[in-house]
Amino acid sequence: MKLSSLISHFPSENNLSTRARPYFNHSVEFKKVFSAKDRAEMLGKVGLNVFFFPSEMITGGDFLSDSGTTTMTNEQWAALHLADEAYGSNKGYFLLRKSILETFGNEFFNLPETGRPNAFIFHQGRPSEDALFSMIGRMGNDLIIPSNGHFDTTEANIEVNRITPLNLFSKELREADNKFRFKGNMDIQLLKKLLQKNSNKVPLVYLTITNNTGGGQPVSMNNIKEVATITKYYRIPLFFDACRFAENAWFIQNYEKGYQKKNIQEIVSEMFGFVDGFTISFKKDGLVNMGGGLFLRDGGLFVRKYPHISDDIMNFQIRTEGHPSYGGMSGRDIMTHSEGLKTIMKKEYLDFRILQVVRFGKSMHEMGIPVIMPIGGHAVYIDMNKFFKGTKIKPEDFGGISFTAMLLSLYGHRACELGYYAFGKYDPTKKKEIFPEINFVRLAVPRLRYETDDLQSAAEAVFNIYKNKDEIPPVEVIYGRELPLRHFKSRFRFKD
Ligand SMILES: Cc1ncc(COP(=O)(O)O)c(C=O)c1O
Repeated sequence: MKLSSLISHFPSENNLSTRARPYFNHSVEFKKVFSAKDRAEMLGKVGLNVFFFPSEMITGGDFLSDSGTTTMTNEQWAALHLADEAYGSNKGYFLLRKSILETFGNEFFNLPETGRPNAFIFHQGRPSEDALFSMIGRMGNDLIIPSNGHFDTTEANIEVNRITPLNLFSKELREADNKFRFKGNMDIQLLKKLLQKNSNKVPLVYLTITNNTGGGQPVSMNNIKEVATITKYYRIPLFFDACRFAENAWFIQNYEKGYQKKNIQEIVSEMFGFVDGFTISFKKDGLVNMGGGLFLRDGGLFVRKYPHISDDIMNFQIRTEGHPSYGGMSGRDIMTHSEGLKTIMKKEYLDFRILQVVRFGKSMHEMGIPVIMPIGGHAVYIDMNKFFKGTKIKPEDFGGISFTAMLLSLYGHRACELGYYAFGKYDPTKKKEIFPEINFVRLAVPRLRYETDDLQSAAEAVFNIYKNKDEIPPVEVIYGRELPLRHFKSRFRFKD
């Protein structure tokens, strides 16, 4: 009997509840040992602000961000050694260009000598946003940029240019519909209402894929299409904040009708077919530790509407980052991108990556922890309003900050408050906090870095705190309440 004939008699490897990772550890680093007391002392010193906590002291998982925290592949480390550090037009630049054309489409990377520069490399995502919104800020007053959910630095880069960022979260996200698969969508009715009255004030519409601020939730192809139809009607350019484009495509492939037979590349090509440009931080779905860019569609509405903008952006880039062919990145940084973009599109990579995050979230959900369901692509979000329901914690006590400080000091896992403190604002005239619509703590999962035990241990730690939530003290802000982007800088202490 042939062994292969037995395959159909046994459950398929695809149906096992846990599957082996599609990669193995090539090299590891042992952590240092610190006790809960060591961590508590250090947290006191850094004013309970987890951003200032030394990463060397993190004995659990570091879930502060999935950005730039990826473990690189052997191919990427090898490519890094093959870099050349020329000042202009180094080897990696041309490889990066090839990958951008292959991944996002032929319209997104002209060489500058064509006279139609449209690809601007930056060292991460936010300087690309800075470049884009600095140019747009010059175009007029009272401008509004709507999004399905602006990221915090995007919002800050918009505001600093005296433009109003506006979040049109989907109804399903606002109403906590736990069944809907594409809660990252933009609310189409709200967009229509805005444009009916104010289309002349909207220089572009922005879709963040996946929607990080909105719980890491994906955006459906149908929503992209609907937004594109409306923006086309009003002659307004459409942009992606494309940081997690491949994870978004995975959700479309798995959950949107009609896409099961399409591969990730086909879906990505279709998604990018709708936009006039995009900003991206390659630190997420570029699988690299540093890199970003702003890419405009050649002949697209944006460059046609604003014909001088490409030159202005290039001047900005040269002034702030360097020659367009390296854009603030070393030759070595650039070399890691093309391999990263190849890996990110692999089905086996994306299947494992997203299902790992989903398992992490589901295990917390099964423990009764109020996580945002369904689980999104890169992180598990805990709803802090539900978490503290029935306790004495009030919104102005910033329970999310207390929770992240306790998770780190007691169990060594670092998470990030993205809620009433990060997105809230202090009104000094009324001496009052203005609270945002959402109040989450996020545990973002770095790519290719952690194993199931790391995640399971974090889930258990969150559960232990949740079980004893009545014991969690409120915090008071001792520095930074009125500052922009205050969560990065503030200091707190526990109230007695
Ligand atoms: C959706 C989104 N946009 C933009 C950025 C900014 O990218 P970077 O951190 O590379 O500046 C981030 C970073 O986390 C993000 O998640």
